[in-house]
Amino acid sequence: MLGLMAPDYLEREVYCCGPEPFMQTVREMLIGFGFDMDHYHQEAFTGPPVLTPADAPELDDVVPDAEAASEVIFTMSGRSVPCTEADTILAVSRTAGLNIPSGCNFGVCGTCKTRKLSGEVHMVHNGGISEDDIAAGYILACCSLPMGRVEIEA
Ligand code: FES
Repeated sequence: MLGLMAPDYLEREVYCCGPEPFMQTVREMLIGFGFDMDHYHQEAFTGPPVLTPADAPELDDVVPDAEAASEVIFTMSGRSVPCTEADTILAVSRTAGLNIPSGCNFGVCGTCKTRKLSGEVHMVHNGGISEDDIAAGYILACCSLPMGRVEIEA
């Protein structure tokens, strides 16, 4: 949605205000899309004012490491692709020459839904997958980052 409303948002200042789970989701989405977090600002609903950097609360955001080795195994095609935590499953599948169908590429349409058989991904979607599907092991390949070794049914 943000990409549709402000296509140049990666080059803008971002100001965010809301409950912490909302702001964490926004931060992780921006990090996932490569946003320079020096241009991110937020205001919390609660807590004491932050007057100095030392007053800032600890954040436990997942920050994918572009240097951290991961691996995606596509079980149906038998392809195993080395990658990093910063690569989406969809991008890795294309490197392997596979064609996981996709549409929006930012977690809304659900076209890239695929099943994860093992391993962990960090997925920040925009409503394109239901909680039931997630519980059943499905992910959206366009907005899921492999955290280590991951097996995908593709
Ligand atoms: S391509 Fe639309 S949700 Fe992944």
